[in-house]
Amino acid sequence: MTKTADGSEVYWDGDHYDAFNQPYEDDLAFYLAEARKARGPVLELACGTGRLTIPLKKKGIDITGLDYAAPMLARARAKAAVAGVKIDFKAGDARNFRLGRKFKLIFIAFNSMQHFGRRPELEGFFRSVRAHLAPGGRFIFDVFSPDPRYLTRDPEEMLPVAYYDAPGGGGKVLVNETYSYDKMAQTSRIVWHYRSEKTGKTVKKSLNLRCFFPEELQALLHYNGFRALRRYGDFKRRPFGEASMKQVVVCAPVL
Ligand SMILES: C[S@@+](CC[C@H](N)C(=O)[O-])C[C@H]1O[C@@H](n2cnc3c(N)ncnc32)[C@H](O)[C@@H]1O
Repeated sequence: MTKTADGSEVYWDGDHYDAFNQPYEDDLAFYLAEARKARGPVLELACGTGRLTIPLKKKGIDITGLDYAAPMLARARAKAAVAGVKIDFKAGDARNFRLGRKFKLIFIAFNSMQHFGRRPELEGFFRSVRAHLAPGGRFIFDVFSPDPRYLTRDPEEMLPVAYYDAPGGGGKVLVNETYSYDKMAQTSRIVWHYRSEKTGKTVKKSLNLRCFFPEELQALLHYNGFRALRRYGDFKRRPFGEASMKQVVVCAPVL
């Protein structure tokens, strides 16, 4: 599968994904602390290549991962084997899943919830999460806080976003980005242009990220049976505010 359900193509290759995101681990200590607090099984939705799943498992967390994209799961399974950990990585759609068991913590990290754009998709997602939460369970996610300066970017403008070593010794890859904001769908339409310095070839891949404005997010949680217990602006647990780039939300289901 080369596209996720929302049309995003950037998960076409787990090796490239990891090489691109290599230094990023700002969220690891936060999710590890929350997983420890849960004192029970943990489910990571949209787990990708196991960037968080594998280190959490290595720290003793009983964790299951679920993702839509076969190339991401293939990479996750290969990395888990190398790391010597056994993780049940499941292929599935977070917008509608049934695993036949419950979890003390369900989380979806790194803006992945922004792949669920339309109301029925979000309703299916929240319904599935609720159905898999054990009593006293928590649901945690992080998404961007939309920044009006970003949304009004010139769609012709190309900005560099990454420069990494291609997997398998393929030389350097420079990634430039174009951005346009789809006002009707409240969705950032991003294209990443991957240019291989070795071959001179450029490959283009789309990335769609639905924007969640803070008050809208609160309403969505409310009408889908969740209560925000804590709302942070970053992974250091600073309170969410005007200057926050992220919305990191710890929720409980309303019974
Ligand atoms: C930004 S990546 C995050 C991956 C991983 N959680 C991480 O932090 O590195 C987004 C992930 O969402 C997954 N995804 C997108 N739509 C999905 C869906 N409908 N169900 C499950 N996973 C989905 C993609 O395949 C991709 O692995």
